[in-house]
Amino acid sequence: MPFINNDFINDLSNQVDIVDLINRRVPLKKAGKDYKACCPFHNEKTPSFTVVADKQYYHCFGCGENGNAIDFVMKFDHLNFIEAVEVVAGESGVSVVYDQNARPVDPKMKRYRDLMQEVSEFYQSQLKKSPAKKKVVTYAKNRGLTGEIAKRFDLGFAPPGWSGLFDHFKHNLEVVKDLEEMGLLVAKKEKKGEYYDRFRDRLMFPIHNAKGNIIAFGGRVLSEEDKPKYLNSPETPIFHKSRELYGLHHARKHSRSIDYILVVEGYMDVVALHQSGITCTVATLGTATTPEHLQTLSRTTDTIIFCFDGDRAGRAAAWKALQIALPVIKSGLIVKFLFLPDGEDPDTLVKKESSKAFEARIEKSHPLSKFLFDHIKAEVDFDTIEGKTLFLEKVSILIQQVEYDTYQQQLIEGVAQEVGQSVEQVKRVLSQQKLPPLKPSTPAPIVGEEMPVPDFPDFPDFSLSKPIVVKNNNAKGLMSKMITLLLNYPSLSDGTVEVRIRDLKKMDKKFAVLLELTRSSQMIEQENNFQEELLKPFKNKTTTYNRLGQLCIMEPYLSEMQAKDEFLAALDVSEQQQKNTQNKASIATANTIEERKKLMESIQKGKLKKK
Ligand code: UTP
Ligand code: MN
Repeated sequence: MPFINNDFINDLSNQVDIVDLINRRVPLKKAGKDYKACCPFHNEKTPSFTVVADKQYYHCFGCGENGNAIDFVMKFDHLNFIEAVEVVAGESGVSVVYDQNARPVDPKMKRYRDLMQEVSEFYQSQLKKSPAKKKVVTYAKNRGLTGEIAKRFDLGFAPPGWSGLFDHFKHNLEVVKDLEEMGLLVAKKEKKGEYYDRFRDRLMFPIHNAKGNIIAFGGRVLSEEDKPKYLNSPETPIFHKSRELYGLHHARKHSRSIDYILVVEGYMDVVALHQSGITCTVATLGTATTPEHLQTLSRTTDTIIFCFDGDRAGRAAAWKALQIALPVIKSGLIVKFLFLPDGEDPDTLVKKESSKAFEARIEKSHPLSKFLFDHIKAEVDFDTIEGKTLFLEKVSILIQQVEYDTYQQQLIEGVAQEVGQSVEQVKRVLSQQKLPPLKPSTPAPIVGEEMPVPDFPDFPDFSLSKPIVVKNNNAKGLMSKMITLLLNYPSLSDGTVEVRIRDLKKMDKKFAVLLELTRSSQMIEQENNFQEELLKPFKNKTTTYNRLGQLCIMEPYLSEMQAKDEFLAALDVSEQQQKNTQNKASIATANTIEERKKLMESIQKGKLKKK
């Protein structure tokens, strides 16, 4: 986040006109030397919202809302502080002064954003100008899109043919290079200096960041035979899928208040819901929900409602979202789940029913705790003692993820009720449960495995650069940890990792699966269904395949960097363990006490070289 200079913020109110700024959003009427309007923050018939020009201040006598220009814009436009300062300054023609100590804003970023705006304008103009426009206009009409909503979302058309966009921009070499960097043009392999369009013959959805800048595109095919159905911009310096949410800007802009945010799966769902007047909605960009998404949402609303299809895939995706949400929930944040009838998505359903009926569904969405209990109950035979025991164990592992104490307490009480035991009994189970393999960010000191060989009473800690939780510290535990991480972050694998894992496999065949995965990870593109791609080589080995499938569901709660740390830590420990096994073998065969002592000393120092 940029740092804005403090003096600049303090002085900003002297440079802007609050009357002008508010009047652009809520028409004001002069009343004496002040201005009045019906309050935008509560319902009223007679105006009690007052703007005091000479104090650059607003106040509502009805609901008590008050503040300065920045407060107003934060509240009215649903922006955070920095964003509001930028908007207030921008609208008043004042340039924001960023802090000298902060990293300078890279001028390239602004250039990219401006260019994306131009590209969007090009795609929009193609809706009117392209000789092929009839096809896209008919498609949009068939899907029930109005012109107004197309405009609200800046929808456009990437023309058919290979070079519509390229031809439009090719006179400027720098721009062409930027378009390549943005993933909109692709360099031809066979002809140097020539490019083709990434998006062709598609309905284009620009992706805006929270501030409203266009940072990427998604494009939908117009006929069902074409593939892939949606194509998205790749990751670029201004676009990170795991952080952005489609529609967040529009939700903030077009909602009177944001009492909840509905998280749906597709672009069309967001657009269709807007068209029915349900504007508090966002979609992830063809990825699972990430902790970053939740952080962003929790800054905008108190209630996040995940909306999924009621089929198996929808439930699996919801379960992933639940696991991501548990550690993020904090005081005041409520997470709920809305399951739609099988085969429906918000787009189809809101068209079939009324927006009222859809809102009634939102109203009735399940609290997280209900989904949590129901889901695990369905996994066990809950009517038996054994089933209840399993329920208790499984649920405890998840409840441990909750860092918000009061909520954790409530969940424990809920569990006690479910299984008909006392809260103390449940707590006892909770404290006995092992942590799951992937605990989010709070690093704890390493918990070393009790060494199987009694000769080493005070075996040293594994030499890790950073303390990290590696609970299941046996080779198998470490391996499944690494596999899980790879399945979720294939970018962790590279040539060096592959070499290291190949060495491990030489010692122990158990590492074969991991090695295979390390290889396939380097080959795939991290697109929508990359996990399926990753699992392909295992299709014929049913047990392995199923087990890997389970590990895919275990979405980690880690950023890519944390994942990398965890992965490398686990790899280090595995290597270290392997050395130990080798050393133990050497000690067993060492001929003299002197020799043994030497070996043990070098192990203590962790210096023994690999043979
Ligand atoms: P869906 O396949 O559920 O499509 O994809 P949808 O939203 O119902 O689309 P319509 O109604 O057929 O137009 C949901 C989201 O998953 C991503 C897109 O972000 C899409 O909005 N997706 C889907 C892709 O990235 N690529 C694909 O090929 C398909
Ligand atoms: Mn759909």
